[in-house]
Amino acid sequence: MGDKDKIQSAEKIENISSQSECLLTFLFSPHSTIVTAMNAIATASALTLPICCRASKLDTKRGLKGRFGVFAVFGEEEKKNAWGALFDVQDPRSKVPQYKGKFLDIYQALEVARYDIQYLDWRARQDVLTIMLLHEKVVEVLNPLAREYKSIGTLKKELAELQEELAEAHKQVHISEARVTTALDKLAYMEELVSDRLLQDRSTAEVAQISSYPSTSVKSLDVEKRGQPQKSLNVSGPVQSYHPHLKNFWYPVAFSTDLKHDTMIPIECFEEPWVIFRGKDGKPGCVQNTCAHRACPLHLGSVNEGRIQCPYHGWEYTTDGKCEKMPSTRLLNVKIKSVLCFEKEGMIWIWPGNEPPTATLPSLLPPPGFVVHAEIVMELPIEHGLLLDNLLDLAHAPFTHTSTFAKGWSVPSLVKFLTPSSGLQGYWDPYPIDMEFRPPCMVLSTIGISKPGKLEGQNTRECSTHLHQLHVCLPSSKQKTRLLYRMSLDFAPVLKHIPFMKYIWRHFAEQVLNEDLRLVVGQQDRMNKGANVWNSPVSYDKLGVRYRLWRDALERGDKQLPFSS
Ligand code: FES
Ligand SMILES: [Fe+2]
Repeated sequence: MGDKDKIQSAEKIENISSQSECLLTFLFSPHSTIVTAMNAIATASALTLPICCRASKLDTKRGLKGRFGVFAVFGEEEKKNAWGALFDVQDPRSKVPQYKGKFLDIYQALEVARYDIQYLDWRARQDVLTIMLLHEKVVEVLNPLAREYKSIGTLKKELAELQEELAEAHKQVHISEARVTTALDKLAYMEELVSDRLLQDRSTAEVAQISSYPSTSVKSLDVEKRGQPQKSLNVSGPVQSYHPHLKNFWYPVAFSTDLKHDTMIPIECFEEPWVIFRGKDGKPGCVQNTCAHRACPLHLGSVNEGRIQCPYHGWEYTTDGKCEKMPSTRLLNVKIKSVLCFEKEGMIWIWPGNEPPTATLPSLLPPPGFVVHAEIVMELPIEHGLLLDNLLDLAHAPFTHTSTFAKGWSVPSLVKFLTPSSGLQGYWDPYPIDMEFRPPCMVLSTIGISKPGKLEGQNTRECSTHLHQLHVCLPSSKQKTRLLYRMSLDFAPVLKHIPFMKYIWRHFAEQVLNEDLRLVVGQQDRMNKGANVWNSPVSYDKLGVRYRLWRDALERGDKQLPFSS
């Protein structure tokens, strides 16, 4: 990054910051309509933004906390003056207002939103600083004087490490920018709500009806729900549309190896069609799978030089959804929807929600010592919650999987799932299987397989060889799930090099799943006719019940979700 780039980055941050200040000035101005809307913000509490307290790698290494001191890095006097003002910003976290109670009034909500913006601004500055520090380090390594003291090998290694850190820091800046943008959108939306409310107050003296807010308002759903008597666990059909709260997570949607530079992966996520493809720089992007011209599905087209081309009239879109080519007509300013999309550890992730994304992507790699042997994707005709219920249950194995992995298993007199009272993970007794539900839709399991067919009485630690499984159940639509399955072993690495093994793994995985599928499809049918699929839980249903309690709490909007310690 040259000085010019640094200045551009700095200007970008300043722009974001000044936009934020403008909005806030407007919101807090005594002449603003908002200030007069004293009673108008029952909805505001829904707009509180998450505050992430993650410290960057460089923070801990270099002790940069709170106020930044970059003078030593740049050395020269004029640089001190140029950059000092940018990074000499107080960490706002210590001043975050604490309010008790579930609902905030307008001033409290705006105050919280203001601190969120300040935090995001501070965070973005920190990310830029990280890039600058790394840049200085790269320059230092490349310095010809330094080369005299270091071997070429060491230099190469250091350079590779630094480039990796630099790429990571760039990614963080993008996420920070997206967080600031989303926060600003939220403020704008909030202002709209207040204006709507004011109009409403003028036209009627009655208390405004929550139901008059836009249908996307999370608050309205909450209030409707509170009015109804709630059973502790009622999962009856028909399947409802997905709750917006469920969208505010990073979701893995594809394996990296399935996405080449000129291929596309169409997916459905939360009932919307999307298509994933790689841009010119090789990075993945996710845009709506509907052409802006006449709604042709884009995945029926092709990818050329990082742009997806509609097969109908040839319009071409980049990974951020911008239309860059319109053959045979004048180019108009057209953009289709896109969502944040990143690649990490062999998977492609998207953030489908409206809230600002969390700053880091989760890791789903198997534990150290395991090698990935199979990555399989399947589209299944069931709602993702029902599939999760099924995967989190092992008591069904000796009855359901009698032709596959549980062939010959005896039926134990008692099956238990042992877990701490606060957790979403534990292990099965008497099976040597550890299992975890990882929000929002993942199941991880480790199976001890040292004595196939004779599993009783062992736990995974007593087994010398293991199989690790990851199941990602992506919510596609009310009756569709995209399943990403990754299988790893801590033995027999040679199997990975046998060419046809992947077909065998796929065949086996499909066989096991088909044993479950006919039952779960049947459950779904009953559920859609009104049956409660969690009518009578018993003790071995513990993990599935916890998943349902977690999801219920999330959808209710609880600040503290259960089993999250
Ligand atoms: S519908 Fe896509 S270019 Fe016409
Ligand atoms: Fe099963």
